Amino acid sequence: MPAKIIIITNQKGGAGKTNAAVHLAGTAVRRHFKTLLIDADKQGTATKWVAQAEEGQQHKIRVMGLAMAEAKIAQEVKQYVDDYDLIIVDCPPSVDSPIPQVMLMIADLAIVPIVPKPGDLWASTDLLELAERASTMNPDLKVRLLGSNVIANLAMSKHSLSSMATMRDNAPLFQTRLHQRTAYVEAMLTGDSVHYFGSSAKAAIKEIEALFDEVMLGLNLQAPKARSKK
Ligand SMILES: Nc1ncnc2c1ncn2[C@@H]1O[C@H](COP(=O)(O)OP(=O)(O)OP(=O)(O)O)[C@@H](O)[C@H]1O
Ligand SMILES: [Mg+2]
Repeated sequence: MPAKIIIITNQKGGAGKTNAAVHLAGTAVRRHFKTLLIDADKQGTATKWVAQAEEGQQHKIRVMGLAMAEAKIAQEVKQYVDDYDLIIVDCPPSVDSPIPQVMLMIADLAIVPIVPKPGDLWASTDLLELAERASTMNPDLKVRLLGSNVIANLAMSKHSLSSMATMRDNAPLFQTRLHQRTAYVEAMLTGDSVHYFGSSAKAAIKEIEALFDEVMLGLNLQAPKARSKK
């Protein structure tokens, strides 16, 4: 089966796209999915993050920089669909860039992380409109919003998350949200996801695993290990 393509996209800078992309990739690797992380952002944060891993480190994430491909990125990505189970694409913070535009045309799932604050919600509307238009041409595309960098017990976060839940009929909100946690920031220096920290990052691991479960359910995916037992 060709790889499922998941893109993490939002025009808003600092929404948590790279954080979600690397963490989903780190979780996918641990669940035995053949995973390719594509860094489609010229800032190269995902590439630099993964490059922090030490020689021989377990659960290494494979990353490829394709920001320079611009509008040709879809053709480039298609070359790898038979070699992987999952391709996760960290998009640049832009709605005018050809990258989100063409990737929405071939993606199975577009995850739109939004920090639950009014300004961040407003700044995401153009991208959501772009995704809605793309859905008419790519009927397989699922669009999901993700509460990102969420401050727990903050009235503003709760209010913004409930607005996100009803923002778009065809872009439901993941039940799981990624809370603001230092473990996510510190993971950058490990070249890995928060799993690297083991039990000291229990809460973060639990939520990223729950998010991955929702992704698998949405894409009707089975973990490769379970599949091979059949
Ligand atoms: N859940 C979180 N908890 C704590 N810090 C977070 C969380 N998510 C993201 N951050 C921090 O917020 C900043 C922005 O996150 P990130 O780089 O993932 O966003 P981005 O959408 O990829 O940004 P850009 O648009 O610049 O590519 C980073 O410093 C990151 O470490
Ligand atoms: Mg980024």
